[in-house]
Amino acid sequence: MNKKITAAITAVHGVVPPNKLTNKDLEKMVDTNDEWIVSRTGIKERRIIEKGKALSDLGAEIVEGICKKRGISPLELDIVIVATVTGDHRFPSTSNIICDKAGATNAWGFDVNAACSGFLFALTTGQQFIENQSAKKVLVIGGDIMSSIVDYTDRSTCIIFGDGAGGVLLEPNEEGLGIQDSIMRVDGSGKEYLVQQAGGSLEPITKENVETPAMYIHQEGATVFKFAVTNMADVSAEIMERNHLTADDVAWLVPHQANLRIIDATARRMGLSKDKVMINIQKYGNTTSGTIPLCLWEWEDQLKKGDNLVLAAFGGGFTWGAVYLKWAY
Ligand code: UT7
Repeated sequence: MNKKITAAITAVHGVVPPNKLTNKDLEKMVDTNDEWIVSRTGIKERRIIEKGKALSDLGAEIVEGICKKRGISPLELDIVIVATVTGDHRFPSTSNIICDKAGATNAWGFDVNAACSGFLFALTTGQQFIENQSAKKVLVIGGDIMSSIVDYTDRSTCIIFGDGAGGVLLEPNEEGLGIQDSIMRVDGSGKEYLVQQAGGSLEPITKENVETPAMYIHQEGATVFKFAVTNMADVSAEIMERNHLTADDVAWLVPHQANLRIIDATARRMGLSKDKVMINIQKYGNTTSGTIPLCLWEWEDQLKKGDNLVLAAFGGGFTWGAVYLKWAY
């Protein structure tokens, strides 16, 4: 009898730009202070991409890094899926550009827009191609250049976001490792609370709106916070329950890094101690689709084959979800 094919992560890589934007720097730009930012969000600094570079540059480095680690050629990649809300252009897709820059010329691909849950949506999309055996190597990238849509005069958003990207390679596994379960949710009635209003088909760029707040991220922080705390904790608890996982069974929570208080609430709800939670928000802030793969990249050395990981996110849209996977190497 043929063994069930699961989709397993077989390599990880992450890239952040070298330039740091610290809380002290922000104190000179808007009416804020280090103490407020750290106590309300947990963030100390974030990375900002250099002029002339874009998500595809980070993405191409990720493809190269992953192929090197795995000892394969970019020509062996079947599909490249990119989760982002800040691709190089509205079109063509950033996946296209990454494949060209990295020499993954046998791959096809596309971009996925699910805001901060983007990486999980892209990961579960990639999983389908592996499980139905239409692809053997699917590279999933999550990343955002949030500095391209942040208004650096708006203290309620500019302190939160940063630039960065990470990615994973998905390959077939016959040992039962890899992605075990996922729960994905959307609620479009939350669209107004976290949105870039202009630049789409509803409100195209015009002379009138080009230098208005409509061009930038708008977030009603307290409202988004309320939904994020509840939904990220609920979906994480739900995926544990339906897979009969106790807190002892879970080796790591890999949470979206939006706010330390949201991460803490999710870990508490799951009954996990802090040493089982990946947290790097202090260094990178909220990189939207980049947060979860950047965590996997930074913790890769500590992960063991068979470890149970719960990945969880909440973001604009609203979108949210959780993935339960068994680490495969
Ligand atoms: O990534 C996906 C989804 N996004 C999230 O999950 C983010 C969710 N939201 C949050 O993380 C938090 O709501 C924020 C960090 C954005 C804001 O924290 P908060 O504790 O909810 O603050 P608030 O917006 O309720 O504002 C509290 C006070 C206000 O002053 P008053 O009206 O009480 O006098 C704000 O004007 O803090 C003020 N404030 C600031 N003060 C210093 C807002 N931003 C700042 C700032 N520095 N940067």
